[in-house]
Amino acid sequence: MNSKHINVAWKSPSNIAIVKYWGKKSVQVPCNPSISFTLDKSFTEMHVSFTQAEKFQLEFYFEDKPNKSFARRIEKHLFELDKYMPWIKSGHFLIHSKNSFPHSAGIASSASSMSALALCLCDLESQINSSPFEANDFFNRASFISRLGSGSACRSIFPKLALWGKSNIHTLSSDLYAIGLGNELNSAFQKVNDSILIINSTEKSVSSSLGHELMQTNPYATSRYQVAKENCLKVYNALVTGDFEKFGNTLEEEALQLHALMMCSSPSFILMQPNSLIAIDKIRKFRKDQGLPVYFTLDAGPNIHLIYPGEIREPVKAFIESELAPLCDGNYWIDDQIGEGPKKIN
Ligand code: DP6
Repeated sequence: MNSKHINVAWKSPSNIAIVKYWGKKSVQVPCNPSISFTLDKSFTEMHVSFTQAEKFQLEFYFEDKPNKSFARRIEKHLFELDKYMPWIKSGHFLIHSKNSFPHSAGIASSASSMSALALCLCDLESQINSSPFEANDFFNRASFISRLGSGSACRSIFPKLALWGKSNIHTLSSDLYAIGLGNELNSAFQKVNDSILIINSTEKSVSSSLGHELMQTNPYATSRYQVAKENCLKVYNALVTGDFEKFGNTLEEEALQLHALMMCSSPSFILMQPNSLIAIDKIRKFRKDQGLPVYFTLDAGPNIHLIYPGEIREPVKAFIESELAPLCDGNYWIDDQIGEGPKKIN
């Protein structure tokens, strides 16, 4: 090892799934392929200081304060990486992490934080081995390592659009890491906006891990995986041809299917709240009355992502301010859009 002390820092975004990953085998091997937009303003910034040491040690700070529960999750993940990065066990890690969005916003931060950590680890690895990666290899490895931390995190590594999971769409697609499809995106989607309506800002009531586990006994699991596969193909075709309507219809179908799966799991969960349904109703009415392509999606929680082309930003913003913001917790919504992927911080 040439260097005994190395500092690295990366900023990595969250992503919003268009076709959802819900159901996994073993260590984040997905039961169906998924596709997502990479976000821009919702990101984690992580600084990792590595010092070679006799034995492993971790100090973890979230927003400048020691955070035991995050530290436990990171430590578990670092131990599990031993097979791929054996140098980790002889390192003292000092990690500082912060998010661009409030922790209480009810946004899943595992995609941005686990991808930021993976990028820092791959960067450390290449400096420790004094062998810089080719850019493509670096990002593929970072996506692979991200997946081991949190499945959806592996999609955050790539600009604009990512596909994760073996699919007919692309010969290079894999269950083990995501691939970037940003340069295949039609101009109609180049400036997609994602306005995140924070209907409820408390922690998620059902963890993704439990949600994935419940799919193992869900009576509709097999047909769900088949539909998701077909939806990936439909969405991909709409994204490359610029068909916003086809894209939007599948986007909404996917979100509602995810929630329907939770409703018919055993035990069953209702993750939407009354205001989520009121917002959905208003969005569909606005789309019909105004003839504007505004669609919604949700993750496994009550918050709503409003997806629409940047060109119609002004009328949609006025609609959000007058009709949707009052349904949000403290009138809070996040004005995000499709983004260029992670950045190294010097
Ligand atoms: C509903 O990636 O959070 O957001 O792999 O267990 O960490 P783990 O799960 P996670 O699941 C994300 C579920 C989802 C859909 C998606 O992002 O595709």
